[in-house]
Amino acid sequence: MKTLIIYCSEYKSNTKKIARIFAEKIDSDLISIKDIDDVDIDNYNLIGFGSGVYREKLSPKLFRLVDKLNLRGKNVFVFSTSGIGMGFYNNKLIKILISKGAINRGSFACKGSFLRRESTNNKIFDIIGRLSQGHPNDKDFEKAERFIEKIVDSIH
Ligand SMILES: Cc1cc2nc3c(=O)[nH]c(=O)nc-3n(C[C@H](O)[C@H](O)[C@H](O)COP(=O)(O)O)c2cc1C
Repeated sequence: MKTLIIYCSEYKSNTKKIARIFAEKIDSDLISIKDIDDVDIDNYNLIGFGSGVYREKLSPKLFRLVDKLNLRGKNVFVFSTSGIGMGFYNNKLIKILISKGAINRGSFACKGSFLRRESTNNKIFDIIGRLSQGHPNDKDFEKAERFIEKIVDSIH
């Protein structure tokens, strides 16, 4: 099965690290959204879409890309890293993918380190920022490996 992992990781490469784990574990192709122009998705049966979370959202670049793609019948999954590491940030993109006829195979989220002063003036994020330091870490990488193995098993 041919898999493509597309990621948008503009802050500290946190999401790129997770994307790499997926790609290495299942020997898939890996591409940054910046270089997406020359990719033909018809070649792939499974596509992963990943992004850091910026002001409560996955990158608008990912939404713009998905909007352009024909995803009918494609197996897809969504992944993100964020300060709080919660999966709900993925839900909006998943809904759009499903509305385009894609088959959602899963959703992965983990923490990605950030500094409050580089991201928001809201001081509540000081604590979240502190808790995010060191992520993604080895445990996150292990979870990512288990996640991608499960996805592949669910398709075979
Ligand atoms: C401008 C900015 C806004 C952010 N907004 C949020 C947010 O709303 N919620 C959250 O949990 N994390 C937030 N973060 C933390 C990032 O989601 C986290 O560092 C993520 O791992 C970045 O991914 P990247 O290194 O792949 O770009 C923000 C970070 C930046 C720089």
